[in-house]
Parts: sequence; C-alpha cells; structure tokens
Amino acid sequence: MIENWPDLDEDKKLLIEQVRAFAQAEIAPKAAELDHTGRFPLEIVAKLGEMGLLGMMVPEKYGGSGMDAVSYAMCMEAVSEACASTGVIMSVNNSLVCYPISKYAPEALKARVLPELASGKKIGCFALSEPGHGSDPAGLKCAAKKVPGGYSVRGTKNWITSGKEAGYCVLFATLDPQQRHKSIICLLVDTKSKGFQVAKLEDKLGIKASSTAQLFFDDVFVPDENLIAPAGEAFKVAMNTLDGGRIGIASQALGISNCAFKASVKFANEREQFGAPIARLQAIQFFLADMATRLQGARLLTWFAAKKKDTGGGYAKEAAMAKLAASEASNWITDKAIQVHGGYGYTKEYVPERCFRDARITEIYEGTSEIQRIVIANQVLKEFQDHSA
Ligand code: CAA
Repeated sequence: MIENWPDLDEDKKLLIEQVRAFAQAEIAPKAAELDHTGRFPLEIVAKLGEMGLLGMMVPEKYGGSGMDAVSYAMCMEAVSEACASTGVIMSVNNSLVCYPISKYAPEALKARVLPELASGKKIGCFALSEPGHGSDPAGLKCAAKKVPGGYSVRGTKNWITSGKEAGYCVLFATLDPQQRHKSIICLLVDTKSKGFQVAKLEDKLGIKASSTAQLFFDDVFVPDENLIAPAGEAFKVAMNTLDGGRIGIASQALGISNCAFKASVKFANEREQFGAPIARLQAIQFFLADMATRLQGARLLTWFAAKKKDTGGGYAKEAAMAKLAASEASNWITDKAIQVHGGYGYTKEYVPERCFRDARITEIYEGTSEIQRIVIANQVLKEFQDHSA
C-alpha cells in the first residue's frame, strides 16, 4: 500500500489518500462503462483539473500544483488503479505536454497556455510518432517550412493519445529530413488552426476511453511565438520529455497491476473450492506472493526514478528501468489475476479482464520494452566505459 511507505511525509500521505478516495468513489464505478462505450471521460477530466492533477509539476505561478515527480507517480498510480484510460489522459497532459512547455518554452508561451492546460480548461497531446516512424522518431517526415512570421507544417502523426480532444498539440516536425534529429523542431499547435485535422481514431484492445488518433497537418500555420525548441535542441526535448513520460506510464502500469492484484486477493478469500477458500491453496498463494513481490519491486524502481528526477541530473536509465519493470510486471500480474479468477476472470463481470487488456499497451507506448532495453544497455555500457577509462 502506498500510504504505508515508511518515509512518506504527512503532506504526501494526505494527498494520496485524497486522490485515492476520489478515484475509488468517482472514477472506479464508471470504469467498466467507459471501457464498454469508449466514451471520453469529460466530467472526470474536468474534476482532475479542479483538483490540480493535470498540471501537477507545473509551477504555481503558471496555475499548476508545483509538486514533485514522486507525488505525481503516486497520484498517477491511484487514478490508474481506478481507470487506466483516465490514467493515460492524465499522464500525457502532465508528462508530455505541460512538462516540455514548462521546461523549454519561452516565457510568454508558458504564461499564455500553461494555466489553461494545468486547469484542464484545455488538454494537450504529444505528436512525435508517424506511420513510418514509431521507435525511430529521428527519421520523422512531418515537414516544417519557414514562412514569414512562423512555420507551415505538413504531414501525418500517428498513435496520438487525446488527439481528438486536445486543444493544444506539442508537435515535432523537420526542416530537413536528411539531417535526421538535428533538423527537428518542436512547436505548439493550436488545434483550431486551419488545416489541422483528426483523420482517424484507432479501435483498440484496451484503454478504450482515451482516444488514439491519426492527425493530418495540411499546411498548418504556426506562429514564431509558438516555437518550443529550435533545430538542434528539439529532439533532446522529445527524449527528455519521454524520460519523464516513462515514469508516468510505469505508474499507470502499477495502478493497473494493483487493481488486478487486489481483486485477486478478494476473490481468493471469497471463492470456495474443495470445501475452503482458494486462498488456502498453495498454488493460489504462490500467485499472490509473486504478484505482490513484482508489484512492489516495480513500484520501488518507479519511485526511485521519480526521486532521481526530483533531485536533478539524468534519469533516462532509471525511467526506462521503471517502465520496463512495471509494464512487464503488469502484463504478468493481470494474466495471473485471470488465472486466479478462473472462468470468472475471462468475463467482463470481473475487473482482471479489463486490466489484462489495459496492461498490454504499457509495453508499447512511450517506447516499447525493446526500446527501454536499448536505453538501459546504452547507459550501462557507457557507465562501464567511463569507469574503466
Ligand atoms: N535526453 C536528452 N537527450 C538525449 C536523450 C535523453 N534521454 N537520449 C538521446 N539524447 C540525445 C543524444 O545525446 C544525441 O545528441 P547529440 O546530437 O548532441 O549527439 C541525440 O539525442 C540523438 O541521440 P541518439 O543518437 O541516441 O538517438 P537515436 O535516434 O539513436 O534514438 C532512441 C535513440 C532511444 C532509440 C530513441 O529514438 C527513442 O527513445 N525511441 C522511442 C521513441 C518513443 O518512445 N516514442 C513514443 C512516442 S509518444 C507515445 O507513445 C504516444 C502517446 O501519445 C502516449
């Protein structure tokens, strides 16, 4: 349990208790309906904005909550435990939209858009991936052309969470695709701009209440003042943003795992076979023990990565480890939760079925498990090289 963590200060404990209570009372009862209908949870997102959960790490002077990454990770877990779709909407707005604007955008742009994004008046999306460039964003093709007063953008973006509902889009486009990552720029696009189009919505396995869109940019004009990062810097902005995003997705995976784990403990205590609750059976106990251990191991890695982010310095390796461990644990835990539930676990009447589908994406978006291994291996090899030099 998060709130039993030994070092948790009173403020954090109170925050987590409030967010958990809200999530369980107002989000969890709607999760099955949201999953079934795929309805975007507008009223819940508005409430998250009111509670300061959409711009958690945005400084207070821009209308944010000014909190740390550890608090963010804990709140993300609590919300995702109730509904993984709501979790990813929250994660993208905090990690992939508010964060790069807060950290890299010019002052005037921050002052103009962060209050809207942190309050939930508008939400944002992050457009890096393309039909031909998912794991290799340095090769992206969406073209930005310098024109008087700004840029003209033309291209297609894929797999964009909240792409349908977003008021702002953090967009990566290239001035010259031959130069790969060196010519990429980062712009903030107002989605009301002429030429911006939601081209297609994906019909997905899980996280059904969050939209995943293909976006077209048909000569969209973006003014100079909406440049977040120029060529030479923007790819690093994307990478650094994804480092933080991976802590958010790791936390989402923890929430999904926790939901499936708790349901399994409850079911094991209630379900009787061979004249006693199945919780008495060692086979079931082993599942529960392994679930609890994997969940806690992933949680510690996630909080460690968040703490490293809070204390400054690089955290790419730690964030990748957290996402890798938490997402793989989530897929394992939700699979075993179905096993504990037997036939009931395969039905929509019990939560493991939804958790199992929701968990799958955590190994894919914001960098696949294979990409996390590449990030970790590169860093580990470099550390050894540095030590032996
Ligand atoms: N922070 C800052 N800078 C970094 C960095 C980091 N974490 N990682 C790399 N860089 C810098 C490098 O130092 C290098 O800089 P120089 O030009 O000064 O040398 C530059 O970026 C290029 O680095 P690499 O040569 O290592 O880059 P690469 O092209 O080989 O890619 C990669 C490395 C790790 C594979 C990267 O491409 C990657 O993370 N791919 C996965 C992309 C991803 O996660 N996509 C998800 C999109 S978002 C999403 O899922 C949708 C959603 O809505 C949820």
